[in-house]
Amino acid sequence: MPIKWLPEGKVSFLDQTLLPHEEVWIETSDYRVIAEAIRRLQVRGAPLIGIAAGYGLALAAGAGEPVETAAKELRSTRPTAVNLSWAIDRCLRAVDGVEEPREMRERLIKEAVSIHKEDVAANHRIGDYGAKLLSADDQSILTHCNAGTLATGGYGTALGVIRSASANGRLCSVIATETRPLLQGARLTAWELSRDRIPCTVIVDSAAGSYMRRGEIDAVIVGADRIAANGDVANKIGTYPLAVLARENGIPFYVAAPSSTADLSLASGDDIPIEQRSPDEVTSLRSEHIVTLGLAVQAENPAFDVTPSRYVTAIITENGVAKPPFEESLERLCARSSGPQARESEVPARG
Ligand code: MRU
Repeated sequence: MPIKWLPEGKVSFLDQTLLPHEEVWIETSDYRVIAEAIRRLQVRGAPLIGIAAGYGLALAAGAGEPVETAAKELRSTRPTAVNLSWAIDRCLRAVDGVEEPREMRERLIKEAVSIHKEDVAANHRIGDYGAKLLSADDQSILTHCNAGTLATGGYGTALGVIRSASANGRLCSVIATETRPLLQGARLTAWELSRDRIPCTVIVDSAAGSYMRRGEIDAVIVGADRIAANGDVANKIGTYPLAVLARENGIPFYVAAPSSTADLSLASGDDIPIEQRSPDEVTSLRSEHIVTLGLAVQAENPAFDVTPSRYVTAIITENGVAKPPFEESLERLCARSSGPQARESEVPARG
């Protein structure tokens, strides 16, 4: 679990920028520290930044600071993952009309803890659905970025599917793309999987195509930051080319995400805001400068891309597996995205 609400009214989170070399936990009672941690990717991954923002609001209320101001600040940290606004709106609804400071604080803590617990439960259900979806021949799974415990309340979405498949006795091995520029695949996915003893091979992003062509990848599973009503998926930059390569090579391309990642108010992925991060992340490797910038040379750093739904085989949610046409299946499975309100009849048996 990469974040915790502490009984003394503080939040403790793992600084993901220091992994895998150092495991440093930061404790704070200041929501601004949470906002900065989200901006800097000390806390990252769509579901996790929503959970962190919920805890941030509880900290603001505990310090007697205006919750609306904190909400504005937290909301502005990262634009692409809809889970952030979704969690903030849910927490604000929980204190609608509440004036008394103590009650406001208690309600915000309760709501943020619920969002956190529900996310972990949702991930286990995503894992169950995904493990059933994979065929027995799907032994080698490629994933991009990090959609694991570190990106969620716990267990993970894409890595949750891999964990559940492994727990069911599958010999899954993972190909993890390094994920330039911030190396979430190399640093975080490999770290998580090594702790679970799930075999993992890290490759550079540009190697994925040749692994697919040689028949060394059976399926691709990634997470998502926002899914539009038509099934277009925003995820870490580099996801779209993987989806196109998967189609070219006849490999299924799965997206694993909780229903809180669906934004059915957007008709297509064209409307998803794409975060542009500092070019410094591209021009430097850790602290070493690797690009000669000048009048003719610039750098750009879009953090996410959009994969058109025609490349997506299925979207695995906690409420079931959405297949094309996504307008219908996402509406059925994600329209009530205020937590994992699964339809019991669609939940696969654990086993
Ligand atoms: O910039 P990041 O590291 O926050 O990007 C994370 C991703 O792209 C993940 O794939 C996505 O948030 C899903 S996490 C379950």
